[in-house]
Amino acid sequence: MTAANLSAIYGAVELVAIALFILGLRFLSSPGSARMGNRLAAIGMLIALASFLIQTQAVAWWVITVGIVIGGVIGLVSALKVKMTAMPQMVALFNGAGGATALLIGTIEYYANSGAPFGAVIAVSLVLSAIIGGLSAAGSVIAFLKLQEVMTGRPVTYPGQQIVNSVVALTILACGVWFVASSGQMPPVVFLGMLAATLVLGVFFVLPIGGADMPVVISLLNSFTGVAVAITGFELNHTLLIIAGALVGASGTLLTVLMGRAMNRPLTNVLFGAFGSGGGSEPAGGSGGQQNVRSASADDVAMMLAYAQRVIIVPGYGLAVAQAQHAVKALADQLEKRGIEVRYAIHPVAGRMPGHMNVLLAEANVPYPQLLDMEDVNPEFPTTDVALVIGANDVTNPAARNVTSSPIYGMPILDVDKAQNVVVLKRSMRSGFAGIENPLYEMPNTVMLFGDAKASVDALVAAVKTV
Ligand code: TAP
Repeated sequence: MTAANLSAIYGAVELVAIALFILGLRFLSSPGSARMGNRLAAIGMLIALASFLIQTQAVAWWVITVGIVIGGVIGLVSALKVKMTAMPQMVALFNGAGGATALLIGTIEYYANSGAPFGAVIAVSLVLSAIIGGLSAAGSVIAFLKLQEVMTGRPVTYPGQQIVNSVVALTILACGVWFVASSGQMPPVVFLGMLAATLVLGVFFVLPIGGADMPVVISLLNSFTGVAVAITGFELNHTLLIIAGALVGASGTLLTVLMGRAMNRPLTNVLFGAFGSGGGSEPAGGSGGQQNVRSASADDVAMMLAYAQRVIIVPGYGLAVAQAQHAVKALADQLEKRGIEVRYAIHPVAGRMPGHMNVLLAEANVPYPQLLDMEDVNPEFPTTDVALVIGANDVTNPAARNVTSSPIYGMPILDVDKAQNVVVLKRSMRSGFAGIENPLYEMPNTVMLFGDAKASVDALVAAVKTV
């Protein structure tokens, strides 16, 4: 077979891989088809790796195979072992690995060069992929450490911080321009200094951001990694890398924008606002707190539920903490047995990561058609007998609608307060992520069922059976 024929075959195979990546993303956009999307994208990646393995002449095929096996085993074991609540940390680490790879490739290309000047495209792509990759790698490690609570989740700030960050960023920029202008003929010590500065900037960039904002930061760093990988594709003249990197870069950017919009916070506020103290450590409302709340027992709530016709369950971060998803499904089954209509209201930023509630409820085999998006469920609340709020707080806070001074004013929320009865399951009067009072708790149609969400829902399941 001629070289031209072979190259056409490899091109066609890579096209199949790219089509699978795009289809995978398409399917990932709905909970019902997300598993299929994941599988398609994984098959695409397998095809891409196999094609690379056959084509490459840089190192022996078995070296790459050993790398793929080691990476595959690490991925498999982590995916099986990681708790659902620790998923953002895992994504941060994997994303950091992508950034570090781009950084390493740039470094290796620099040192592998025999001393001849780089062409303009290679010089620009080499330096950009190394800088962006380094930034993403170091930033992801800090995001991981914050989420894993190895270091404080609070924003780490000090006077003049933005000035220090700007000086480091400008130094890197100047070195980058030097690299390109000299066609890569930069002394190794300056090149390495520039890379070290990108790692420092990655750390400095994430330090002032609160732990609870990390999912947004990880999504942004993910888009950085995508861009770094796409640029590495130019450096290595590799179409598949360019397209795969562009897909990651674009989807990471879109996700970041959508999360910011759902929280009604511009990206600049997330990155530079030092917002979010880790959430919920202080009683809501500071010294005074909310006093006028009515608490109910599991038996009272079970009675209310058993005689309802329409119930909407509103899950939030506390459901994830308590791992109450299976108990919630058991409760829904009990209610449905009694002919009660049960549905779930899903806020786009409920929990701490995109799709958090969808993933938890899918794990408990809640049928997808019962999950309603915010726009679809909000008109349903006024005709709902009971809105059962389980570990959700900010996403139900009516202050977002009418208190102009509230930090979450303007954030779209679930209109649970419009239901006939609202039952809130949480452990205490502590605040949620935004650290603010929730007037919902003092409304005349609201009762609180205090306790760990799983214990409370288990008690409700038992109590409903006896009604
Ligand atoms: P939050 O407002 O954070 O409220 C969660 C509530 O769950 C807390 O008030 C807490 O009260 C309760 N809770 C915690 N553990 C519990 C347990 N074991 N049992 C029962 N209740 C428990 O959560 P939300 O309503 O889901 O809102 C999400 C927030 O995170 C929003 O402000 C959003 O902007 C932000 N955020 C989301 C994302 C994404 S992508 N989802 C990313 C970054 C930030 P107690 O301590 O009293 O129990």
